[in-house]
Amino acid sequence: MINIAVLGHGVVGSGVVQLLEKNRESISRKAGADICVKKILDLREFPGLPYAEKFCTNFGEILADPEIRVVVEVMGGTHPAYDYAASALKAGKSVVTSNKELVAAKGHELLRLAGETGQNFLFEASVGGGIPIIRPLHQCLGANEIDEIVGILNGTTNFILTKMIREGMGFGDALGIAQELGYAEKDPTADIEGHDTCRKICILASLAFGSHVYPTSVDTRGITQISAEDVCYAQSIGRVIKLLGHARKIGDKCEIWVGPAMIERDSPLAGVEDVFNGILVRGDATGDVVFYGKGAGGLPTASAVISDIIDCVTAEGTIVSLHWAGADDSKLAKPGELPTTRYLRCKGKGFDTVECVLGKVNPLHRPDKPDDELAFIAPAMSGSELEQKLSQLGVHGVEVAGNIRIWGQGEI
Ligand code: HSE
Repeated sequence: MINIAVLGHGVVGSGVVQLLEKNRESISRKAGADICVKKILDLREFPGLPYAEKFCTNFGEILADPEIRVVVEVMGGTHPAYDYAASALKAGKSVVTSNKELVAAKGHELLRLAGETGQNFLFEASVGGGIPIIRPLHQCLGANEIDEIVGILNGTTNFILTKMIREGMGFGDALGIAQELGYAEKDPTADIEGHDTCRKICILASLAFGSHVYPTSVDTRGITQISAEDVCYAQSIGRVIKLLGHARKIGDKCEIWVGPAMIERDSPLAGVEDVFNGILVRGDATGDVVFYGKGAGGLPTASAVISDIIDCVTAEGTIVSLHWAGADDSKLAKPGELPTTRYLRCKGKGFDTVECVLGKVNPLHRPDKPDDELAFIAPAMSGSELEQKLSQLGVHGVEVAGNIRIWGQGEI
């Protein structure tokens, strides 16, 4: 029998306990041993639960218990999660986490510590919830150089954009429904401003390209500025707007960004709707491989956590392929350095200025387009060139109300 401890009894923590119980027999068969939750750390009380006696409020009890071999951290945040994970590894216990904030901030340190202590630090559940992506990336696709990763990595924003696309709803109304349904938090900032997606693409990029990418190094935009008008213009050119996390290798540099993008309607990612996640990985040997499924929720995320627990039990010692070096920002393209094709929606008068500044543009169309609106695809240019041209437009009374990347050039 293998004893484990679960830190946190929220949606994911309770899902782990529940799924271990529900599929006890098959999980034991795959792990080669029964997996027993010996302790659960949570400050709250859960008196009605059949396993109420397992709760404790002192992490020291777990750390000092030599029978506990695996610590499952599902509390979220970096404090005290980092201290708990680091002390568990130092105490000779493997650590499994679903905490993307922790891995994006401290992945390199914790992987190094796991190597030094001969333990595992595993985090399959930190990206894509129930979708297997971490293990496929470093094991199944291990023979490839990864050229590009592009993912819809946040269910809440994908739900909001799906409502805007399908029902022509505005951003505020769609966010309200996401909150009513419990998808978006009361404070939805991390989702709608792109920070959650950023943490996840940083983890995937670190793994694929071999050195830690910190969220602060990534150009990150959310979806709060997307309007029903932009959705309509995207439709007029056979595209849909999705919030993407994107990482691409160009020569010896890596370009990483998070932001809304207009993608072709026949891209496999365009069909990823509602709260689902989808991730496209382009390997130099495999070409495109696409992963799709539930990116959040108690049981899907617990499924990924338990797969890591099984690995800790069956493959004791550090899994060497799960590793990356410290950050090396010289390998990252600077935000806006590389030329990008963008959709722009301008408001104002005197659109002649637009062509003087940007060259000939082909206006896009939507029903009921007002006379003071001009939308078009601007020629590819760097971020600094674009900024300079937008300020020239501003001087002439043309305000840019919509500014969205085009991903996947297709017919553009
Ligand atoms: N808030 C996240 C989402 C949860 O909506 O996808 C999973 O990380």
